[in-house]
Amino acid sequence: MPDSLTLRRPDDWHVHLRDGDMLRAVAPYTARQFARAIVMPNLAPPVTDVEAAIAYRERIIAALPEDAEFTPLMTCYLTDATDPDRLAEGHARGVFTAAKLYPAHATTNSAEGVTDVANIRAALECMQAIGMPLLVHGEVTDPEIDMFDREAVFIDRILAPLIRDLPDLRIVLEHITTAEAAAFVAQSGPNLAATITPHHLHINRNALFAGGIRPHAYCLPVAKRERHRLAVRAAAVSGSPKFFLGTDSAPHARETKESACGCAGIFNAPFALESYAAAFDEEGALDRLEAFASEHGPRFYGLPLNEGTVTLRREGVAVPNEIAGLVPFHANETLGWRLEAFPL
Ligand code: NCD
Ligand code: ZN
Repeated sequence: MPDSLTLRRPDDWHVHLRDGDMLRAVAPYTARQFARAIVMPNLAPPVTDVEAAIAYRERIIAALPEDAEFTPLMTCYLTDATDPDRLAEGHARGVFTAAKLYPAHATTNSAEGVTDVANIRAALECMQAIGMPLLVHGEVTDPEIDMFDREAVFIDRILAPLIRDLPDLRIVLEHITTAEAAAFVAQSGPNLAATITPHHLHINRNALFAGGIRPHAYCLPVAKRERHRLAVRAAAVSGSPKFFLGTDSAPHARETKESACGCAGIFNAPFALESYAAAFDEEGALDRLEAFASEHGPRFYGLPLNEGTVTLRREGVAVPNEIAGLVPFHANETLGWRLEAFPL
């Protein structure tokens, strides 16, 4: 049993860094663990054009310590009105790494999302032509569909037809939570990949109701049954290059989570790598953590692998019950691996 693990520096292929005071509070945690991150554009108002993305990128960098070695990779929030030429221009200028499809009303700040994928058909064709990845929040919003079925139904109704129509479009199905998603991604061609969060490796839907309602375990897509957690775990540790790290760290102020209508999102940035390491360790798959965390993502995105390394030590690390006024994932738990990283 090794008691330390040195990995090529990892990246986070899906994170919410927010803005303003919240950005300043949370971004250093991500920059401490990861070399790069795909930054979600669901601000209010959303990041829908190049100028907004450039300004947001500058605010992110300004929120970090001067010596932080961190590159934010920006995304464009697709709307029914996205102009394909402007999107392509943003990609060509190196501002937009990818574009994000939020079905309208699927999740936090998605009211301006896409009401029907037919409305962004020209943008998707353009992305296919220029090799710009599409990142998908894969849940239908039809209120008739059970909350726990929305990801699987999205695959059948939206994603499978999209892939048939645009087979060369590179797609990341974000934060997968179901056996159906894991199987669909595994059996699809090389243009479809998926990110996996630490929380979906650790919790099933019981965590939402453990002794009472647990708002800090609530995120979207919501955690599913145990069999789905196990399938997502199996995908993460499978060694398949189609699955890679994306924390979906999604902080919300404590009072907006502990509320009669609590926000969706789990803040996992401070101990994200430690959390993944714990899951991989439980699966006897620590030898596959580096590929999942540091290789599969950049290869899918066509970006260079990071130089440099991080080291995890087999040592208990106690997660506090509050960080920056927020309740982190694994609050009050002890994780078995400690990241030696740049101090905050
Ligand atoms: C995210 C957020 O709060 O921005 N919430 C979440 O539960 N994951 C949005 C999202 O990724 O769906
Ligand atoms: Zn997200």
